Amino acid sequence: MRDPRDPEPLSAWHRLADTAVLLDGFHALKHAVRFRAEVQVAVTTDRRAALALADELAPDVRETLDALLAEVPESTYRALVPRPHPTAVAALAVRPPRAANLRALARTPRTAPVVVLDQPRNLGNAGAVIRLAAGFGATGVVTTGTLDPWHPTVVRGGAGLHFATAVERLAVDELPAGPVFALDPEGEDIRGLKLPDDAVLAFGSERSGLSAELRGRTDHLVSLPMRSQVSSYNLATSVAMTLFHWSAP
Ligand SMILES: C[S@@+](CC[C@H](N)C(=O)[O-])C[C@H]1O[C@@H](n2cnc3c(N)ncnc32)[C@H](O)[C@@H]1O
Repeated sequence: MRDPRDPEPLSAWHRLADTAVLLDGFHALKHAVRFRAEVQVAVTTDRRAALALADELAPDVRETLDALLAEVPESTYRALVPRPHPTAVAALAVRPPRAANLRALARTPRTAPVVVLDQPRNLGNAGAVIRLAAGFGATGVVTTGTLDPWHPTVVRGGAGLHFATAVERLAVDELPAGPVFALDPEGEDIRGLKLPDDAVLAFGSERSGLSAELRGRTDHLVSLPMRSQVSSYNLATSVAMTLFHWSAP
């Protein structure tokens, strides 16, 4: 954590940037603070504007943001972030330890499903899914394959909501316990099924669908209603429909 009396947040930023999670924009910082991320340093080009946003949109975290945010010149801010955000706010937070996420994913009995993205390719899709999982109170989001679910572009797409659920990369044979419901257009219609709270909801990759390995772990193959001429839905859209179905009374 930066010493709040330190007038120069840049040294802290440069020291932490390699290992910390970049929170890009006001909303990412707001969500991270709400879900108790350990924010180490936060900068903005306009403290007054950022705190006015907090007054308007997030009075619950205003005091924390007031203590955290240091004002820096525009040129400094631009040098710290890959792509300037319209709110001109950026922060660094500690990535939650893998062991803590694994504990959260393994805890039983589970009261909400785990979402598995099997070898996803698109960073934006992964971010959108983490945002959905946070919104529905899912236990976590697990990716298999090479995509890093904590990649800065995924975190940007997730609007800082990685801190509201457990996000980790695992091999298929390390998936949390629970019945695996894998989504595929060839499966049984989801409308006739009740998805249990301990379900592991698995989705295939954008390009090639479910891997053979994931299919080998599948207990139920499930489809979303779709007319015959359409090949498939977007990955994040499929997760949204499935979580909505799980949540419906
Ligand atoms: C873009 S789709 C994959 C398309 C891919 N070309 C294929 O062969 O399956 C990504 C994932 O979304 C889910 N999905 C998309 N449409 C679906 C549907 N109608 N029913 C069930 N799952 C679907 C599946 O998990 C799928 O693997």
